[in-house]
This record gives sequence, C-alpha cells and structure tokens, in this order.
Amino acid sequence: MSTSLITNIAELTTNVASPDGDRFGTLVDAAVLIDGERIAWVGSAADAPEADVVLDAAGRAVIPGFVDSHSHLVFGGDRAAEFEARMAGQRYAAGGIRSTVVATRAASDDELRARLRGFVDEMLAQGTTTVEIKSGYGLSVRDEERLVRLAAEVTPEVTFLGAHVVPVEYADRADEYVGLVTGPMLDACAPHAKWIDVFCETGAFSVEQSRRVLEAGIAQGLVPRVHASQLGPGEGVRLAVDLGAASVDHGTYLTDSDIEALAASDTVLTLLPGVEFSTRQPYPDARRLIDAGVTVAIACDTNPGSSFTSSMPFCIALAVRDMGLTPAEAVWAATAGGALALRRDDVGVITPGARADLVLLSAPTRIHLAYRPGVPLVERVWKDGVGVFAASGTAEGTNHGTVAR
Ligand code: NIG
Ligand code: FE
Repeated sequence: MSTSLITNIAELTTNVASPDGDRFGTLVDAAVLIDGERIAWVGSAADAPEADVVLDAAGRAVIPGFVDSHSHLVFGGDRAAEFEARMAGQRYAAGGIRSTVVATRAASDDELRARLRGFVDEMLAQGTTTVEIKSGYGLSVRDEERLVRLAAEVTPEVTFLGAHVVPVEYADRADEYVGLVTGPMLDACAPHAKWIDVFCETGAFSVEQSRRVLEAGIAQGLVPRVHASQLGPGEGVRLAVDLGAASVDHGTYLTDSDIEALAASDTVLTLLPGVEFSTRQPYPDARRLIDAGVTVAIACDTNPGSSFTSSMPFCIALAVRDMGLTPAEAVWAATAGGALALRRDDVGVITPGARADLVLLSAPTRIHLAYRPGVPLVERVWKDGVGVFAASGTAEGTNHGTVAR
C-alpha cells in the first residue's frame, strides 16, 4: 500500500485536545502521513517521515473532512417558489413536505439515484466526507423502503424517517399512520437503516406519537435521533434525552430546561443554520449552549424545503456570524461534533488510526471559512486516503467522483 505525505501545513486542525489545553489540537508547520485509507502519523513538518508521494501544502490549512450529520438527499422536485414566497414574508410550515412527497413518489429509482449521487458529489467538492441521509419523502411502505435502500448505496449513516409528517391519505388518522410507521414500514426499512428519527413538532407528531416511533425503532436495533423545537418550544428535546438519542436537531426554540437536560446528557444538539437562513427564523444562541456545557454539532439539513444548501463552509460562516460560535468552535462542530452526533470515532479527527478524510483549504487558517463566506476555499479533499476532489487550477483539477462509505 502506498503512503502519501502532506507537509508544510501552515495550520493543521486535528481535533485531538493537546496538553496545552487547545481542544482543537491545532498544530503549525505540520505534516500528516496517509497509509492506505488511514492516517498513519501526525506531527511537525521538520520530523516528517518519508513517503511515496509528497504534497507541499505551503502556507495553507488542513482540517478534517466535514461530517454532515443531518440531510434529506433522496427526493423529487424542488420548492423554489415556496422559498421565493418565504423571502416575501410567508412563514415556513411543515405541510410543504407533502408536495415533495408527491414528486418523490412519482420519480423512478434511477431518477432518485442520479440526483442523490449528484448531491453527494456536490458535498465532496465542498469538503464533506461523511454524510447522514434520511428518508421521509416516501411515507408509504414501498416508497420509504426505496428511499432508505437508495441512501444505503452511498452512506452507512442511513436514517428511517417515516414519521416526517402525516401523509394526505392518513389525514385525521395520525395514530393509524403511526401504527403503519411502527409496524410494516419499520419492518421494511430497518434492514437498510442505522437510525430512527421523528419530526416531533406541532403540525407533525406529538410527543406521545414520537415516543411510540422511537421506541419501536429501538426495539429493532435502531438508534434514535430527533427533529425538535424547530417551529416553537416543545417536549421533543426532553424526549430525545430520555431515550438516549445520539442527537436532537434544530433547537431553534430551546427552553432553559432543555439546555439543562442537554448539558447533563450525552445527546448532541445539532444546529442547522441553513434552516434559519432559509426560513427567516431567529438563529438560536449557540454561545449560550456551549457555555452551558452542551455538545454542539453543525449540519446542513439539505432538503428542498427548509434548507437547500449542501455547503458546510456556508453553515460554518452562519454559525459564526449569527449564532455566536468562534470560527474554531464552528469548524469543530462541523467535524468532531458531527462525528459525535453519529457516534463515530474514526472520522472528524486527524490522528493515527482515523480514516484519512482531509480537506486542504486554499487559505492559511480555518478562520477563513467564516471570514471569506461564499468563496470556494476547498482546494483538495481526501476520503479514505483517496484524492476525491481537486479544484480546477490544481494539477489534478477534477472531481474524481463519488466514493461511498
Ligand atoms: O429538517 N423539519 C422537518 N424536516 C425538514 C424539512 C423538510 C421540508 O420542508 O421538506 C427539516 O427542516
Ligand atoms: Fe431535517
């Protein structure tokens, strides 16, 4: 197996806390040795070992590949007109999901697959090397099974979200729909999924219904994660903590007791700044969360309704500008934080033994991700030690395509 050395890294973010108390594990004038699909060595460029291939990163920063722990990438159609109406003052409502359900049910597997792979490639080119993907736009046994099966073709982080919203054919029969989700739909989807999710919110599922869904998933070996407190305060965060969910996502309207419960738990709070951006809702105060001791992740929530960005750098910039995180905290939340939200210890860090998922920035520090918003600063991306993206203008200069993991 061949080795590659990335050397003369101006600023390397390892996310391995250093003895001097830097929780981001920042090294200057550093080098990383990749052996096959894993990181083999990390240290000072002056001490770097020999390697088969050497890349000089002179003056540029390297960070772990982004871990985007929340996305909905399998769907048909889009809702550009809904976004336009929102920008003109209309409120976001959960009901818009149903129009995507119609378009998704009408799309063939091949159409959904082509779109899905396009999104994964788009993400790789922006530095995302691990992505979680949810179902939730099928809402029938047949269609939800299709969505989790297609998602499993491109990632092991697949989430069954049959309880996204009550479909029109079950209008006024929400409890009956929950029976379908926790029965035949779960049976069909669980073999393809690792996670179970529910949209616990007014207009979607009550806390009792959400508990039924999550407990049924747990009984089939799935691990819970929850959409909660997106449209208003509710009981979803406490339910997530009670059930030991890996993550509770959105948290736009958190109460003091939600924050206390999160701080005392292992449940990660995943911020989705693209949603507040695209729905004109208030940004939650992430500074307060971190100061209270909550573990925070950042994800894109890529979906056609509430957040149609797939750019982790854009979400980092929003989290810094509008949620009160420092650039270093935001990059940590988008890498190590996402890994914790997916209970992964092999990604989100640059340390010997971890997967060689790395991003070389065309900038000297990680600060530039927020300081230069909207500028494509991702120069090269490695996933499992393979160069999967190189910006035009570099020697390779092409996207080498989807590498599923
Ligand atoms: O995470 N909140 C629920 N689900 C998605 C939105 C889906 C949609 O509007 O299509 C979310 O924001
Ligand atoms: Fe979501």
